[in-house]
Amino acid sequence: MNNKKYKIVLVGGARPNFMKIAPIWRELIKQKDIFELFIVHTGQHYDYEMSKVFFEQFHLPTPHYYLNVGSGSHAYQTAQIMIAFEKVILELMPNLVIVVGDVNSTIATSLTAVKLNIPIAHVEAGLRSFDRTMPEEINRILTDRISDFLFVSEPAGVENLLREGTEESKIYLVGNTMIDTLSYHFETIRAIQAKNLYNLESHKYCTITLHRPSNVDSKENLQKIADILNEASKYVKLIFPAHPRTTKNIESFGLKHIFDSINDLQIIQPLGYFEFMSLIVDSRFVLTDSGGIQEETTWLGIPCITLRENTERPITITQGTNVITGLDFDKVRQALKRANSFDRGDYTPPPLLDGQASQRIIKILRDFFAQ
Ligand code: UD1
Repeated sequence: MNNKKYKIVLVGGARPNFMKIAPIWRELIKQKDIFELFIVHTGQHYDYEMSKVFFEQFHLPTPHYYLNVGSGSHAYQTAQIMIAFEKVILELMPNLVIVVGDVNSTIATSLTAVKLNIPIAHVEAGLRSFDRTMPEEINRILTDRISDFLFVSEPAGVENLLREGTEESKIYLVGNTMIDTLSYHFETIRAIQAKNLYNLESHKYCTITLHRPSNVDSKENLQKIADILNEASKYVKLIFPAHPRTTKNIESFGLKHIFDSINDLQIIQPLGYFEFMSLIVDSRFVLTDSGGIQEETTWLGIPCITLRENTERPITITQGTNVITGLDFDKVRQALKRANSFDRGDYTPPPLLDGQASQRIIKILRDFFAQ
C-alpha cells in the first residue's frame, strides 16, 4: 500500500440521512491511515429536533462544511445545494463522495460531484417504488445512474439495478446502514423507556409518523388520516411525533380541532433518535408513511401499517411485518385487526439486516483504494 491519503466527503442533509451516515462515519474513522474525512451537512433540515439532536446522540463531529440551504421548492433547494456544494468540491477535490438515501440533498450533491468527475458511492442504492410522483423515486433513479459504487440494502435493489442495465461490477449487496445504527444502540434505546413520559404502557399504544407530501399536503387526505387514526384509537392509545410539514398543514387546513377530538391521541414535537426508537420498540404496532420505519419495524418484528400505495422496500412485506394500505379505510381496518393480534413468535430478521453493512461498505472502499 502507498502512503497517499484519499479524501472522502460524507454527505448528510435531512433527518433520515443522519442514522445512515453515523455508522459509516464510525467505520471510516478507523481507516484514517488511508482516508482523510469530511462531513458535509447541506442544511436541508435545520430545526434542532430534525438535525442537531442526531449529531449529538450519534457523537458525530460538527460538520466540516454546513451549507445552510434550508427549505424551498424542489428546484430551489436542489439548486442551492448544488451551488454551495460545488464550492466545497472545488476546494477539496475529494477522491470520493458518499451519499445516502433518496432526499434532495442526495441527488443535488451527486449531480454536483459527477459534473466535476468526482466518483460517487450511493448507500441505499437500487430501491424503487415505481412511482415517479414521489420526489424520492426521481432522486433514487438519478443518483444510481451517476454513481460508481452502488451499495444495496436488500436483494430487490440488485434486481432493479440489473434490469435498468447497470454494470454488475458496480453493485454491492451490503445490507442496511440504518439497521447498523439501530442494532448498535439497541440496549440504550431499550433502557430509555420513553413511553413513561407520555403515560403509555408497553404494547398498548401505536406510534404514528406521517409526512409524505401525498398524505399531508392535501386537506382531503389529512381528513382521511384523521378517520384512520380514529379507527386505530379503538384498539390502542396513539402517540404521534409530528413532522413540521404535517403540523403546519394540519393547522393551515383548519383541521386541528378534528385531530384534537380523536380519543387518546397525543401529537408531540419530533423526537430525538433514542426517544423515538424507544417509543417504536414498545409499540403494539406502528402507522407510518416513512421508508426507514418500515425497515426498522422489520428488524424489530413489530407490525407496521404503511399508509402509502407502494413500497420501495419489498423485504418488509415478504418478512410479514409490513402491510401497504394507502389511505383505503377498509384495507386499514383489516390491517389494524391483524396488527393488533400479531404474534411476534420466534421472529428472525432478514439475514442482511445484521448491523454489519457499514463494515462491508468500508472494506470494499478500502480494498478499492488500497489497490
Ligand atoms: C424530506 C425528504 C423525504 C424524507 C423527509 C424526512 C426530499 C424530497 N424529501 O422531506 O424523503 O422522508 O425529509 O423528514 O428530500 N421543515 C422545518 N424544519 C426543518 C425541516 C423542514 O420546519 O428542519 C419544514 C419546512 O416547512 C419545509 C418542510 O418541512 O418546507 C419540508 O421540508 P423538506 O426538506 O423540503 O422535505 P421533507 O418533507 O422534510
